[in-house]
Amino acid sequence: MTADTFVLFGATGDLAKRMLFPSLYHLHQEGFLPDHLRIIACARSPRSHEEFRADVEASVRERGGKEIDHDLTPFLERVFYLSLDVTTPEGYDELSRIIHEGGCGKEVVYYLSTSPSIFGEVCRGLKSHGLADAPNRCVVEKPIGYDLESNIEINDTVAKAFSEERTFRIDHYLGKETVQNLVALRFANRIFEPLWNSETIKSVQISISETVGAEGRGGYYDEYGAMRDMMQNHLLQLLCLVAMEPPSSLSAEAIRNEKVKVLKSLAPITKDNVESKTVRGQYSEGFCPNGGQAPSYRHDVENPDSGTETYVAVAAEIQNWRWAGVPFYLETGKRMAERKTQVVIAFRPLPHSIFGQGVSENELHIVLQPEERITLQIMNKQPGLSAEGMPLEELPLNLSLVERNNGARRRIAYEQLILDALLDNPSLFVQRDEQEAAWRWIDSIADAWRERGMEPKGYRAGSAGPSAKHVLTERNGDSWYE
Ligand code: BG6
Repeated sequence: MTADTFVLFGATGDLAKRMLFPSLYHLHQEGFLPDHLRIIACARSPRSHEEFRADVEASVRERGGKEIDHDLTPFLERVFYLSLDVTTPEGYDELSRIIHEGGCGKEVVYYLSTSPSIFGEVCRGLKSHGLADAPNRCVVEKPIGYDLESNIEINDTVAKAFSEERTFRIDHYLGKETVQNLVALRFANRIFEPLWNSETIKSVQISISETVGAEGRGGYYDEYGAMRDMMQNHLLQLLCLVAMEPPSSLSAEAIRNEKVKVLKSLAPITKDNVESKTVRGQYSEGFCPNGGQAPSYRHDVENPDSGTETYVAVAAEIQNWRWAGVPFYLETGKRMAERKTQVVIAFRPLPHSIFGQGVSENELHIVLQPEERITLQIMNKQPGLSAEGMPLEELPLNLSLVERNNGARRRIAYEQLILDALLDNPSLFVQRDEQEAAWRWIDSIADAWRERGMEPKGYRAGSAGPSAKHVLTERNGDSWYE
């Protein structure tokens, strides 16, 4: 069934403003929200419904730009503000009254867009007021822990109120159109699967590079760093979708079980190999891609001694029959030369070339951001006469999803995720054992860094990352695709 009440904790926070309300607005506008669905926005500070609605309107208009030129009243009328102190029972009494008597529906999605340190209070409050019973469910956002131990602790806390099937853990990358398209590309096309293994594939590269720095997020980011902020979740999720076995169906359970197997097959990285398998970097003063100076990370987070990594690269291995011997290069960094998320599948050379030298290996590039594109690099005969042999050239078979979408609005990843939470469809959410397997692997790397005293290497803001990253790939005769 579709939920008819959406309760948002942390309603005045940054995520709510930038992503959640604009997503709810688009779902409303496109007719995906049931007519009677109400949004109860909870936060601590006192405000009237009207004041809060005005803030929501401003956020939606700011995000949507000129395209949103109409009256937002029908959407805003769904939104009610409740000033609630999560540590006292009174707030939940009032929430309960609104849900039970205020004409709201009886199936509730709670979205906890708050610090995980208060998940416990919220879950306890909801449970003790009978608000957490099935079919009600909760959505939780990262960071769900700093390591495996704290991840288990948070998940245990939430589990006291919401069972596993009713806990929706968000990784917003899974809501991105092109990330879902990876599943379609692999399993809706017969041609790729026979080639998708170590026989034909030489290496896989998955990179998420960002041009933004850590400015404004000092406290959180300086504690977590790139490994925990990006690798543990977004990069490993992409890795799972690229490497998993074909699931038996599109069901949440089938897909998520295949993803867990990949995570559990990751070769451990320990103090014995961490120096040859990983690179840590931290940006120093440099340039913004659009010109102008960019300050150093330490300046951005106002911590002159920070040893946090803003860049990480790992040469991972998946220990199973399909992938044995294929390096998976994973990379993410802030204040890099360009914003780009891409997966590059590099194929092995021809077993025998009838053209002599000059035949490049095929590559499949799946670009997820900033513009969505799938390109297959192929060898082509150079057009025209030739007095000698058959000269070749490398050309892309190019599918631009931007053109395909005719310039349609780019969706916010949260739209699909909120819709799925309302529809009780957990396919795009992260299961507990998946998350634990990911943390186990990340923890082993973090421990190895500590044991080896591996400090981040500097890289200039606006560059492609620390030069040491090249050693990682060159060791296997590979190189990064910039
Ligand atoms: C978030 C990280 O999860 O993802 C941020 O906390 C990062 O540090 C962001 O900037 C990147 O998301 P996107 O959708 O802009 O690629």
